[in-house]
Amino acid sequence: MSDAPSDTTELNRRPEWTALADHRAKQQPHLRELFATDPGRAERYVVEVGDLHIDYSKHLIIDETLALLRELAEATGVFALRDAMFRGERINVTENRAVLHTALRAPRDAVVEVDGENVVPGVHAVLEKMAAFAERVRSGEWTGHTGRRIRNVVNVGIGGSDLGPAMAYEALRAFTDRDLTVRFVSNVDGADLHEATRDLDPAETLFVIASKTFTTIETITNATSARSWVLDALGDQAAVARHFVALSTNAEKVAEFGIDVANMFEFWDWVGGRYSFDSAIGLSLMIAIGPERFRQMLEGFRLVDEHFRSAPAEANAPLLMGLLGIWYGNFHDAQSHAVLPYAHYLSRFTAYLQQLDMESNGKSVQRDGEPVHWQTGPVVWGTPGTNGQHAYYQLIHQGTKLIPADFIGFARPVGELRGELRDQHDLLMANFFAQTQALAFGKTAEEVRAEGVAEEQVPHRTFPGNRPTTTILARELTPSVLGQLVALYEHKVFVQGAIWNIDSFDQWGVELGKVLAKRVEPALTEGADVPGLDPSTKALVAVYRTLKNA
Ligand code: F6P
Repeated sequence: MSDAPSDTTELNRRPEWTALADHRAKQQPHLRELFATDPGRAERYVVEVGDLHIDYSKHLIIDETLALLRELAEATGVFALRDAMFRGERINVTENRAVLHTALRAPRDAVVEVDGENVVPGVHAVLEKMAAFAERVRSGEWTGHTGRRIRNVVNVGIGGSDLGPAMAYEALRAFTDRDLTVRFVSNVDGADLHEATRDLDPAETLFVIASKTFTTIETITNATSARSWVLDALGDQAAVARHFVALSTNAEKVAEFGIDVANMFEFWDWVGGRYSFDSAIGLSLMIAIGPERFRQMLEGFRLVDEHFRSAPAEANAPLLMGLLGIWYGNFHDAQSHAVLPYAHYLSRFTAYLQQLDMESNGKSVQRDGEPVHWQTGPVVWGTPGTNGQHAYYQLIHQGTKLIPADFIGFARPVGELRGELRDQHDLLMANFFAQTQALAFGKTAEEVRAEGVAEEQVPHRTFPGNRPTTTILARELTPSVLGQLVALYEHKVFVQGAIWNIDSFDQWGVELGKVLAKRVEPALTEGADVPGLDPSTKALVAVYRTLKNA
């Protein structure tokens, strides 16, 4: 069990919580006035971590707000829990597991013990095995069963065994080997595997079966279909050994599936699925970008780990971002949080964060099983700018809901964009800056009138402003910067879970649906009379069967 101090005072009865509620009750000036009376906040409310410049000046906060939030973090033992996590204590209480994704990027000489055993040598041994394999595939030395070069890599996994590597592959596309086709299949909808393989040659295709447990029905079903596709074409069971590798903690199930455990890249139960893409789960990514760039990405993670571990509270970026989320979710009734990257390559970033944040902090009981009496994790959503501007930004600007947002942008484009496409970057970023300014400062009725707008139009064209945003700016989206960004959000989620006193590392909420799906399936396939179906579901299944067989 964790040695982290536990204080049984309910969160919302703590004096620090009440102080924040009182502070919130006092009407704060509009961001326009806050900047007018204190322009220095533009420099003061900035934190630098690694290559990330994080500006939080456009938030509905003053120095007192930040001080009160930090007091809440102190009172709820955030840093004690953080230290317990880094020490390898079993802070995932409901699964009785250590939480050590930080050990996946620890330097070779670090010592991180789980039950008295240093896990770091094992981490580096797997990284070396991955690197050797990735190089063999990239160089053409690892061939398919018929001796043909591997030109296609298909990662089969779901949730944390898909979203991380798929997101990072997209993010780092400019750094990938363009001669390799890399695809990610997750959905048990057969269309996913069909589309991923329809134009590929099985003799040139490597399947990377990614599953921590190796029991996830979607992944095992897709992996089985992929195996049939390969065997139908190559006609020899021995082909499996050249066309399938596994990423898993479960050697027994891997062997049962028919993959040689020599072709298995292991990780450990102290790596949560959604925290796993810098473990063996990153193999497809490593094949795509090469081991050196993967290593640079891990360095980026490590840099933010060290920052989170050692920076003082006033300058601790994950702490600040976590606290700002608490401020809006618990004291302003914000229900959601938008993450808006102004980078096409980050097209999957928010989808990745949805699992990271919502599977971690979508909880309603405390660590001891008592119900929470406060809001926990927000709905996380968003897509890259500028596309969202022409879709849902209307609601963020003028709707009735408060939606705090993170804007992530870069000073330079990456990759080999030709001249005029590089030049488009300034226009992209002009939008980035314009949006956060518009959200914060809005446009008053007087300003609208001064433009000669007819009076009846004025209310429609007025922007209230006072919409909070964080701006995260870096020079360019390198592997290291991607690692820094992901670690920043990992630790932000940690901070919030610690304050809400929930277990951010289990995911029991996904179990019921899995069990019911297994129970319902025979009703769909065989028309079986499945006991325990509620009347609505029973009627819907009947309609499904009629339509299916019509
Ligand atoms: O069902 C949720 C979940 O357990 C996630 O937490 C996990 O990332 C995903 O399924 C995939 O699990 P596995 O890697 O064991 O196949």
